[in-house]
Amino acid sequence: MDASATPTPFSTLIRTASHEQHTEAETSSFMSDLLGGRLGVDAYRRYTEQLWFVYRALESASEALAQDPVAGPFVLPELARTAELERDLAHLGGPDWAAGLAPLPATAAYVARVEECVRSWPAGYVAHHYTRYLGDLSGGQIIRGTAEKTWGFARKGDGVRFYVFEGIGNPAAFKRAYRGLLDALPVDDLEKQRVVDECKRAFALNTAVFRELGREFPLSA
Ligand code: HEM
Repeated sequence: MDASATPTPFSTLIRTASHEQHTEAETSSFMSDLLGGRLGVDAYRRYTEQLWFVYRALESASEALAQDPVAGPFVLPELARTAELERDLAHLGGPDWAAGLAPLPATAAYVARVEECVRSWPAGYVAHHYTRYLGDLSGGQIIRGTAEKTWGFARKGDGVRFYVFEGIGNPAAFKRAYRGLLDALPVDDLEKQRVVDECKRAFALNTAVFRELGREFPLSA
């Protein structure tokens, strides 16, 4: 058999290509401090607020992209997180949690890029979709456990609902199916490379948000 005849599946390509960026995001000082239990619940709330802006941008696209041949298959209602984030934020900040809420500059830049992809580049939207939702289904579960322990949220309850996918019974099977969607992405190799680049950009946009959050919540030495 000629091994070169079997091209690397796109799901493998995008995971491998973004590995370094993943490590950078995962080990950012804000994430390390948050998951190390060194920050208060106010930092967790601020982080959750930023996620709300990002997921609103990702999910307000659902209608516009549902019929799109490239991004449409990824519009999966069981992934939607906006309602869960709003429930968590009401728990963290009370009924007026949204009053006066503004995104950090890095969050605003992230949202602007997602919106640009929604408007004009469905394959780029897929890169953003992958970067967030597959991460939430993976490392997100580690974050949930730590948050429950550190700030005393009920297991899978208010405060950490963002990390609980009620509509996904078997996350491993779901991720396999999701990778199948990536592998079937109906675009050519050049466009796939652009999607990989956009995924790296999505990671960088996340890391920039962590950097700003880290500045807002520096550890008192
Ligand atoms: C401290 C924070 C994080 C931890 C502990 C973590 C941990 C993990 C782990 C263990 C996996 C592999 C799961 C598996 O193989 O099924 C994973 C996958 C992933 N993570 Fe993270 N992660 C973190 C932060 C992030 C961030 C900030 C992002 C992007 C915004 C992200 C995006 C992803 C993606 C896209 C995958 C799927 C890779 C693939 O299989 O294609 N992660 N993460």
